[in-house]
Amino acid sequence: MSANISELKEELTSLISAANDLDTLEAARVQALGKKGRITGLMKTLGGMDPEERKTTGQALNVLKDEIAALIEGQERALKKQEMEQRLASETLDVSLSPRPETKGKIHPISQTMEELQSIFASMGFSLAEGPDIEDDWHNFTALNFPPGHPAREMHDTFYLPDDPDEQGEAAKKLLRTHTSTVQIRAMQEQGVPIKIIVMGRTYRSDYDITHTPMFHQCEGLIIDKDIHMGHLKGCLMDFVRAYFEVEDLPIQFRPSYFPFTEPSAEMDIGCSRKGGGLKIGHGDDWLEILGCGMVHPNVIKNCGFDPDEYQGFAFGMGVERIAMLKYGIPDLRTFFESDNRWLSHYGFDPLDRPNRATG
Ligand code: PHE
Repeated sequence: MSANISELKEELTSLISAANDLDTLEAARVQALGKKGRITGLMKTLGGMDPEERKTTGQALNVLKDEIAALIEGQERALKKQEMEQRLASETLDVSLSPRPETKGKIHPISQTMEELQSIFASMGFSLAEGPDIEDDWHNFTALNFPPGHPAREMHDTFYLPDDPDEQGEAAKKLLRTHTSTVQIRAMQEQGVPIKIIVMGRTYRSDYDITHTPMFHQCEGLIIDKDIHMGHLKGCLMDFVRAYFEVEDLPIQFRPSYFPFTEPSAEMDIGCSRKGGGLKIGHGDDWLEILGCGMVHPNVIKNCGFDPDEYQGFAFGMGVERIAMLKYGIPDLRTFFESDNRWLSHYGFDPLDRPNRATG
């Protein structure tokens, strides 16, 4: 029997390593481990053996089964990797090619909106800060007062990266940042306090419908200093929305909300009217949610190494696509990323247009 088993092992091993596509490998798997497979067939003969033989043969067959299953798995991984490499090689696209001369380029609404935001906040004295798109769990969650197991983590539909054998523990786990609030932490640690920054960049959540795409952009602000209070937050955000939407007396309201990294937390709405089907920003009897904000939680300041009794501040964050859609009347978020030239020539901006500047 044992001679049989080692012959079978050799035979199946060469069958598996000769399989150079996934279908052939699947056929080899069925032949070895399927219901009517060779190993399964031998297993069925165990019943007719005397106890001693059954024990040794049974053990040998189980070892063989595990070895063959591991071989198949390894071969499958190798074939999938090869397939991916072939796809990557055949689907390359030279993004550095110059645009076709017959198509006149336009500035994408995202670029335009980010320029506008940057110039309004620059005129209010904010400087620009940046951080990486690939983050670790500590910067995206723990440092922002979402301890491991905190229920608010679940709301972020996070994309985690495959485990890295070199990383040490939960805090180092890599992910695509789910918000730009990560840069609050990085900037405070790098620049210290007092600090007055805005952040603009890509963020990622596993979600896709008319108002969600897996990649989107956020604009985030942070001020930390001595004696900062909610009045400063309100004044700053009121000036901002009035400059951005170009409505001088745009009404605003704050509603209580919850974010782990701010306390108290609020959502800010601007006045609008939905009469006659269209949306008009400005006066009216309706409200439109525009951003999340709040006073920075003492734990966040502590986590960055500063004393929350001495330093306080506020933070806010908004979706760039959302405020671009509202200002420019773009109905579907997904169209931002379809690279359709007809869309871009309709919603895009002339390269020589200057972004709005803050007035006053
Ligand atoms: N990070 C929050 C979000 O993505 C937005 C926010 C930023 C809220 C800063 C408060 C303060 O939803």
